[in-house]
Amino acid sequence: MSAAWWRGATIYQIYPRSFLDADGDGIGDLAGITQRLDHVASLGADGVWISPFFTSPMVDFGYDVADYRDIDPIFGTMADFDALIARAHDLGLKVMIDLVFAHTSDKHPWFAESRAGGAGTREDWALKDWYVWADARADGTPPNNWQSVFGGPAWTWDARRGQYYMHQFLKEQPQLNVHNPEVQDALLDVVRFWLGKGVDGFRFDALNHAMHDPALRDNPVNPEPGPRTRPFDFQLRTQSQNHPALVGFIERIRATIDAAGGACSIAEVGGANPMPLMRAYTAGDARLSSAYCFAFLDPGALTPARVAEALAAWTGAPATHGPDKGLPEGWPSWAFENHDVPRSLSRWAPEAHRAAYARMEMLLLGALRGTIFLYQGQELGLAQDDIPFEALRDPEAIANWPQTLGRDGVRTPMPWTPSAAHAGFTTGTPWLPVSPGNAARAVAAQEDDADSLLHFTRRVIALRRAHPTLRTGDLRDVIAEGDLLRFRRIGADGTALFCAFNLGGETIALGATGTILLAANGATPATLPPYGALIAAETHA
Ligand code: BGC
Repeated sequence: MSAAWWRGATIYQIYPRSFLDADGDGIGDLAGITQRLDHVASLGADGVWISPFFTSPMVDFGYDVADYRDIDPIFGTMADFDALIARAHDLGLKVMIDLVFAHTSDKHPWFAESRAGGAGTREDWALKDWYVWADARADGTPPNNWQSVFGGPAWTWDARRGQYYMHQFLKEQPQLNVHNPEVQDALLDVVRFWLGKGVDGFRFDALNHAMHDPALRDNPVNPEPGPRTRPFDFQLRTQSQNHPALVGFIERIRATIDAAGGACSIAEVGGANPMPLMRAYTAGDARLSSAYCFAFLDPGALTPARVAEALAAWTGAPATHGPDKGLPEGWPSWAFENHDVPRSLSRWAPEAHRAAYARMEMLLLGALRGTIFLYQGQELGLAQDDIPFEALRDPEAIANWPQTLGRDGVRTPMPWTPSAAHAGFTTGTPWLPVSPGNAARAVAAQEDDADSLLHFTRRVIALRRAHPTLRTGDLRDVIAEGDLLRFRRIGADGTALFCAFNLGGETIALGATGTILLAANGATPATLPPYGALIAAETHA
């Protein structure tokens, strides 16, 4: 594969707690991942992205890092990681890891040192400005109106230091002061460390949450009437995150990666208007490889208009205005599922038509221009599990119950063998239960069924691998009309592919011609039955 292996690649996301438990403690681990990497390779994926496995008190299940350079004992040892990467490379899989740079755990030694002065004890000390500290206002309240994603103010009082510290997620996740060049240097050392371990790429968690307004100005009110389940939703986060200086740090990340021989770098960009940020973080040759957002991960329905709107942000043309004017366009990534949002079929598909919908959805993902992500179990058509309040583990879900669905239901264990205890995930007691419904969709059950979604997924990914036009070709003539979505993909060699999807339950007459490469639910170029989908080579009379 070329240096740009990630362009148009299929990347399979592994949530380590829930993939496979090799030591019987009920929690998945690195050795478990290594055992079943053959499953990922059998899908035809180009690589894996593994959610954090670093030393952590696990308050946010690993997204609260206490040591960026070591493995949490729950997940194994550095030797287990070395074995994982060796096995992945033997199988031809790239390995991407998940670096959380907007915040650390409050148990990180950096935070202990940063909070250890002040309140009249010392004038100056190491790491004083490594986190975002601020005095109380005259009346003792937090420095400004910023709110945290998981609910409540983005500031917590620290008695040791006699100041407030900022956190955009849990109070156990203090915000790093990424404006500080020393903090940047330390984070770049982390990048170098893992490149030295042989990783092929990074997902940068919540990257747009890094870098606040140093003047600590209030966020403005959000004028949109949208859903408001948390105080966070009442504001536009124009001051608390994504300071323009972030692009400078992104360029330092890229330079560090390039100096070590290159690797893939993909930003996670949350928020309501992510496309301009995705474009800014990836424009030109000196920033990140790609970025992905929640365009298809929020609660809204999947409609042709929505897909067309997201794709339209990536025309292939340089920016025509703003600070990146003239820079070559970056590269998008897309995901329909991840560990933070309910399973796509539970969000989008009518209950009675899930099997058909799953095929249509998989073929659509496979036809998109960009790099695509598949979350573990998506290839099985897993449904969102219903976790009762008493059994919830996710701190966000517990804090916001019953306003949000929470993230536990998408993090339940991967089912491997339908008849085994806990569907073969663990010999112990799993940290979250395996539901009978998802156990029945286990890998082994679908291996035995030639018509299963698992086999269909392999066909989709194989088609994408076989056709550079699908991976990297241009996107043209996007049409969204009612339930119909259609577009063309045009390869560098002039190959033209015709892609059409019926996102609804009524037959659509297309009247097109072409040679079918892969179709779902009885679709032909002439007609798309309910949830019909196809990719066809164009033929010209
Ligand atoms: C991750 C979440 C995590 C949050 C805070 C994200 O966007 O995907 O799982 O809770 O960042 O690190």
